[in-house]
Amino acid sequence: MSNNVSLIDYYAKRANEYERIYDKPERQTDLAVLRKLCAQTLAGQEILEIACGTGYWTHAVSKTAKSITATDFNEEVLQIARAKKYVCEVHFQKADAFNLSFPQNIFTAGLAAAWWSHLRKSEIKNFLSQFHRQFSSGALLIFLDNKFVAGSNTPISRTDDEGNTYQLRKLENGSEYEVLKNFPDEKEMREIIGETAIGIHWTELQYFWFLTYKLK
Ligand SMILES: C[S@@+](CC[C@H](N)C(=O)[O-])C[C@H]1O[C@@H](n2cnc3c(N)ncnc32)[C@H](O)[C@@H]1O
Repeated sequence: MSNNVSLIDYYAKRANEYERIYDKPERQTDLAVLRKLCAQTLAGQEILEIACGTGYWTHAVSKTAKSITATDFNEEVLQIARAKKYVCEVHFQKADAFNLSFPQNIFTAGLAAAWWSHLRKSEIKNFLSQFHRQFSSGALLIFLDNKFVAGSNTPISRTDDEGNTYQLRKLENGSEYEVLKNFPDEKEMREIIGETAIGIHWTELQYFWFLTYKLK
């Protein structure tokens, strides 16, 4: 079970308004590049997607993937994702990204979009080692996430002792949540992933980063 109950609650409550984040005009060029990059990189793969949310990236990747098992902790977002049409075979399943237990030989690739930024620095190692255990050596893994761009992102409201940054976010109904949102750079990501990976490839756009590697 995850140790971040308020993050789960926040995304459950935000489910119906979540995809507005993909309407931001200044991000459209990057999003088009990323959708293409994801589809190209994951072509022909049997994919485990974690924290899939409303299925935005699931949909993009389904155009070329062989199959996708898309998981999230929240039924509220899975319900929206299930209602969409996909090109390849897609199975949705409730799963805690911190407590996965799939057989190692099912998936050839893993995908996590806008998930890394919500990991507390102290929980990254545990998350990563159990995420990696879902795959065999040679599996292709992809993380993509936001960069902090002033004016486009919600401002950072505080930084804790461990260096995690937070934002105060409001939902349509006026309720306010403090959301952990980290913005790692290429150096930090390479240091964390380095030991367990071969062929790390980092792509940096204006608003997003996209990281691929193969499991040792
Ligand atoms: C920023 S959203 C990303 C959704 C989707 N991947 C995207 O990029 O559009 C983060 C997602 O993480 C999910 N989530 C939060 N805690 C989780 C956990 N412990 N296990 C699995 N999913 C979780 C939320 O329900 C939410 O859908």
